[in-house]
Amino acid sequence: MTNFLNEREVFLMYCTRKITDDLIWIGSNDRQHPIFEAAHPVPRGMSYNSYLLLDEKTVLFDTVDRAVQTQFMENLEHALNGRALDYIFVHHMEPDHAATLGDLMLRHPEAKIVCNGKAINMIRQFHAADPKGAILVNEGDTLSTGKHNFTFVAAPMVHWPEVVVSYDSTDKILFSADGFGSFGALNGVLFADEVDWERDWLDEARRYYQTACQLDPGNVEYRQTLNFVENSAGGYRPEGYETWSTGCGGSLCGRMACAYLACNMCTCGSMRFFYC
Ligand SMILES: [Fe+2]
Ligand SMILES: [Fe+2]
Repeated sequence: MTNFLNEREVFLMYCTRKITDDLIWIGSNDRQHPIFEAAHPVPRGMSYNSYLLLDEKTVLFDTVDRAVQTQFMENLEHALNGRALDYIFVHHMEPDHAATLGDLMLRHPEAKIVCNGKAINMIRQFHAADPKGAILVNEGDTLSTGKHNFTFVAAPMVHWPEVVVSYDSTDKILFSADGFGSFGALNGVLFADEVDWERDWLDEARRYYQTACQLDPGNVEYRQTLNFVENSAGGYRPEGYETWSTGCGGSLCGRMACAYLACNMCTCGSMRFFYC
């Protein structure tokens, strides 16, 4: 029988899409939850973006929110096509990037977590897991996966303290975590030349930056976290996680750990208290 589906169409059937010859978008869209992370109205839905690189080593770039976990796992297994998962780059620990990380570690125990020292503590706290063989990266560290070479650059407070971005110098692609993000589901398009960005996306990108990415005292996440801290004896628990982060343990700042405002508001007043 003639195979009448070209490669791109086959990938589309599985809700994945090729970015380059060896990079595949395996994220998913959520149009069922009107509020993102219990804070931000998303009338146009929300997309969770995750990518898989099929180099000599395979690399997963972030996971997704639990809202789209089933679709994501199907996408991942289809894209891997039987290969092992070698690395998981963890750029950010907020639920939209990492809520399914714990389940993924159970499914793919062979995968090595690649993250920084702040993120590894958050993985232990949020997922009650201790990744064996994790590779901790610092500013400027590099990692080769075969044809591709990655450099890691810290981006603290864009928008949590553990955020790191990775740059593929082979294909000149930046995996930017929350940077340059936007509210809104993708409607099947991924590339800038497929949309009228200024007309259809600029307002939502601006709102995302102001309210979900930039933690200043005027935005809703700041106020919600402050309210949580002031009315709770426990640690910070972002929407999507069941486990509290307790940071430094017994100290006030430790119980408040995670949000930028917490250490601004308490007497500790220093970034060094984040997940120390
Ligand atoms: Fe975030
Ligand atoms: Fe995000």
